[in-house]
Amino acid sequence: MTAEETLAKIAGEVSVCTKCVLHESRKKSVPGDGPANAEIMFIGEGPGFHENEQGHPFVGASGKFLDQLLAQADVTREEVFIANVVKCRPPGNRDPLPDELATCDMYLEAQIKAINPSIIVTLGRISMSKFFSGVKISAVHGQMQKVGERYVIPMFHPAAALHQSALKPTILADFAKLPDQLKEARAALGKPVVEKVKKKVEEIPDDAPKQLNLF
Ligand code: URA
Ligand code: SF4
Repeated sequence: MTAEETLAKIAGEVSVCTKCVLHESRKKSVPGDGPANAEIMFIGEGPGFHENEQGHPFVGASGKFLDQLLAQADVTREEVFIANVVKCRPPGNRDPLPDELATCDMYLEAQIKAINPSIIVTLGRISMSKFFSGVKISAVHGQMQKVGERYVIPMFHPAAALHQSALKPTILADFAKLPDQLKEARAALGKPVVEKVKKKVEEIPDDAPKQLNLF
């Protein structure tokens, strides 16, 4: 099975999963979006109201801010994979409970294995605690650490920065470090540069100005 097929299979399983209580209030599951060869994978907490309606991660207010943060890191949504530690919305956006995290982790682990990213960026305390325990996000945010076969960078959750404006410059500065951290991670892992996702050539209309051919 290719990595794309594996990710599609996981998404299919998640959409009908009843392994934890979160399926009871699910409208749409949110397995995660992105290419199977993403070099960077972002892991948030869980779907909120809008994500539950639409089935895609970070489409609400924190998603808008995440787009701004991705721009700081010189990456687009199309080239990164964005997932969450739980794939169904916790009622009222409460924190996912330990047993829900433990149950849903098999899907996240399978996604990480299929994608094999060089860098995982955790967004917020809860996804950080999948990789690091007993640390404070205020002490380690933005610092890249080797975990197994890849690097993990804990970052503040975009929603936290939206609510506490004092965090905003910090999270922006952390994201701005990502391009250099990616270079460092690639070199240390001996991984080649993955070609950036390009806009499909077919999207250029036939009657596009001739000058386009110069590029
Ligand atoms: N917050 C998250 O942690 N994940 C989402 O998908 C949306 C908001
Ligand atoms: Fe299954 Fe995860 Fe949804 Fe729980 S949150 S029902 S484990 S997919």
